[in-house]
Amino acid sequence: PVKTFVAPFVGSIDQGTTSSRFIIFDKHGQVVALHQIEIQQITPKEGWTEHNPEEIYETTLTSIKGATDKFVALGYKISDIKSVGITNQRETTVVWGKSTGKSLHNAVVWLDTRTKSTVEKLVSKTKSKKTNEFVSIVGLPLSTYFSGVKLNWLLEHVPAVSEAKSNNNLLFGTIDSWLIYKLTGGLNGGKHLTDVTNASRTMLLNLETLQWDKKMLEFFDIPQNCLPEVRSSSEHYGNICEGILKGIPIAGVLGDQQAALVGQRCLKPGQVKNTYGTGCFTLFNTGNKTILSKNGLLTTVAYKLGPNAEPTYALEGSVATAGAGVKWLRDNLNMINDAKQINEFASKVPDTAGCHFVPAFSGLFAPYWKDDAKGCISGLTSFHTKHHICRALLEAICFQSKELVDAMNADAGQPLRSLKVDGGLTNSDLCMQIQADILGITVERPAMRESTALGAALAAGLSTGVWTSLDENVEGGFKLSDGHDYFESQILESDREVKFAAWKKAVEKSFAN
Ligand code: G3P
Repeated sequence: PVKTFVAPFVGSIDQGTTSSRFIIFDKHGQVVALHQIEIQQITPKEGWTEHNPEEIYETTLTSIKGATDKFVALGYKISDIKSVGITNQRETTVVWGKSTGKSLHNAVVWLDTRTKSTVEKLVSKTKSKKTNEFVSIVGLPLSTYFSGVKLNWLLEHVPAVSEAKSNNNLLFGTIDSWLIYKLTGGLNGGKHLTDVTNASRTMLLNLETLQWDKKMLEFFDIPQNCLPEVRSSSEHYGNICEGILKGIPIAGVLGDQQAALVGQRCLKPGQVKNTYGTGCFTLFNTGNKTILSKNGLLTTVAYKLGPNAEPTYALEGSVATAGAGVKWLRDNLNMINDAKQINEFASKVPDTAGCHFVPAFSGLFAPYWKDDAKGCISGLTSFHTKHHICRALLEAICFQSKELVDAMNADAGQPLRSLKVDGGLTNSDLCMQIQADILGITVERPAMRESTALGAALAAGLSTGVWTSLDENVEGGFKLSDGHDYFESQILESDREVKFAAWKKAVEKSFAN
């Protein structure tokens, strides 16, 4: 049957690691129109990954054009799009000139590990000589992952950036800031803003005051005047200045993982989601208080839905390589023709026959935080085929997610009973069954899996009167009509333990480099 959609509508820009997308949602969170464009991964050296900021902006505009064309062709009116939300790959660092509006360097992507020696230098500058020196202020350890470290590298290694700093001509931002600046006019009055969730990934934001922290700026040698103003995740940021959406307000901004938490409506303390994108990110809502992990998780801002709203925090487990491993099998090894084929191949064998694949391509993030770990495929004999390797990668993604859930259980003091999932890899029933087997708890997958884009749309719609609340029991509150699929474990606890112990041994091999 042809779906009918209900006005008003909200648009969502989802600028991710591998693509730019624009999705238009209706009042019930149904996808009316979507357009997506892959972006180029620039890899000048081993361990380096960059994006071209101008391409990021251009592909965003093109995806807006593609989706709005489809929307209009369906007979809907642009004037019924009330607002636009932005959600983005986090930590990816852009620097541009105040006087030119042009980027000064390619964006340094979150999974880029060029800053390994910067991290060593910074750690040696701390009192404790430990990576976790600032965890109580910013919730994060010193690591190649976070934008403050990347900005410190750019200031030291790129003359154009240090010159701009000396001439008071430097602007810094994560992808949300860059897109807001460009969409609201760039050189002609573009706004230099960010939201609290993106700001909380820089190592520069004080988690209590939600403002830039002077001590951290001093430590990283970053001038405050190059930083964007920090706003809540749901408010008026400015109006779009060009194209078919001209005049429509940008009214919601969230880093992509926090957006998925909102999109899955994990809005109560204790609720958890896991998103399988380029990486894998589990977020656990801890309510209005920050909890510092004893098990390798990050403390981060989950959302602040309005300038006067209380902030909500989360514990986060981050895994750098999930979908990026599938892309590697496709693009670097030509083992599969497209991402879907990994399921076809993995389902041809009942198990990996002792083979393990630890895809530590950007070192290992949570719970290990080892910048220098390297990927490895182990346990191979002449019996193994590409089918085993494909299955080993799916298992690896699920084992890594289990490590995050275990860390959360240890921090929370009580075990999770189910896990909400979303993201590209959750389209694979096989992968979700493996995940349920490895976790031993229910895996809950929504029928509408665009949770990240939906989260930003919800934040935007909330501040522009589309919804009065995200609570479906409140009059005018958001209510998603679609249901869920559930996956339950089909293996014995004893088998699960044996498999997990073997995985842990394989991980140790990736440390030995
Ligand atoms: O922290 C990095 C994260 O925001 C990237 O997300 O969706 O590209 O895996 P994704």
